[in-house]
Amino acid sequence: MKPFIDLKEQYRNIKEEILTCINQILESSHYILGENVRQFEDEVKSYLGVEHAIGVASGTDALHLALRALDIGEGDEVITTPFTFFATVEAILYVGAKPVFVDIEDKTYNIDSSKIEEKITSHTKAILPVHIFGCPADMKKINQIAQKYGLRVIEDAAQAFGAKIENKRVGSFGDIGCFSFYPSKNLGCFGDGGMIVTNDSEVAEKIKVLRNHGSKGRYIHEKVGLNSRLDEIQAGVLRIKLRHIEHYNEQRRRKAALYTKLLNEYVITPKEPENTHHVYHLYSIRSSYRDEIKETLLRHGIPSVVYYPVPMHLQKAVSFLGYREGDFPRAEAVSREILSLPIYPELPDEEVYEISQMIIRCLQKNF
Ligand SMILES: Cc1ncc(COP(=O)(O)O)c(C=O)c1O
Repeated sequence: MKPFIDLKEQYRNIKEEILTCINQILESSHYILGENVRQFEDEVKSYLGVEHAIGVASGTDALHLALRALDIGEGDEVITTPFTFFATVEAILYVGAKPVFVDIEDKTYNIDSSKIEEKITSHTKAILPVHIFGCPADMKKINQIAQKYGLRVIEDAAQAFGAKIENKRVGSFGDIGCFSFYPSKNLGCFGDGGMIVTNDSEVAEKIKVLRNHGSKGRYIHEKVGLNSRLDEIQAGVLRIKLRHIEHYNEQRRRKAALYTKLLNEYVITPKEPENTHHVYHLYSIRSSYRDEIKETLLRHGIPSVVYYPVPMHLQKAVSFLGYREGDFPRAEAVSREILSLPIYPELPDEEVYEISQMIIRCLQKNF
């Protein structure tokens, strides 16, 4: 069986640098909140064009801390998408707020900004769009709505490190941007890691305190916070990978363009909205023959993954919110038809050809 994502090849290409860096950290014995975290935060700031970057323990914690830093909690509503990874919804629930879903766009699978206003109530505090699969959400419209109603915007950019709208990176549009460095992400570490970015100094200060047990000085606690720090080894690894991120994302875009060229006539391929730069964390096709395609690929030793088989509003864990099948028809339809194909910067072009041929042959049998 071929891997869905081959992380080994990427590691091999930067192995010497990585081992030297980890060795230096081991020799220094400074593992928490040291020079690597500080420098990585500075490097992310300049890469994303933001004023503050705060390393945390995961993308989930980034979302949780972002909501806390904006004082969102019990009785508040946060508007988000039903088509995401569960962490987006969990974070809203951690702070005691209520996730209010808005259906997605057919084209990008991102939250449909034209449907947001009808869900705003006197309890709405924030909009939390997700740049799903690496495709930027409609931030211009979302920010306009937020401004009109006095709402905060938190971007879940976990899948979209480096994606752009015009020349501005995602994560820098809202009040706060949240990233995940889970190993398979476009910028991934060797364990868990995350980052919060903002241009608001007060919010940044609050997050720095909250990520470290609510502490400003040693053993002096202003708030009940979390233990959520990006560690030195992960930051060291991420600093090395950050130098290659443009190349990694460009390679993903090349593989995606090749898949699209080969498959466009046969399945619904991903769409890149005008003036945006998609970074293809996932390359997801849509077909009513999804299960047949998956089965065919599997028979040939090619893994493919359904992200996501059950939209958030139909997850058992949130049944108490009272949503039902039929509430968000687009998210439900996409969940039935979506399939993610192998994509990573080092994926050989020949494999893109082979996988595409297998899909075309499978569909020709079914037509
Ligand atoms: C859209 C989205 N949000 C949040 C997360 C959570 O990130 P992490 O796994 O680093 O906690 C992920 C990643 O898995 C994600 O894909």
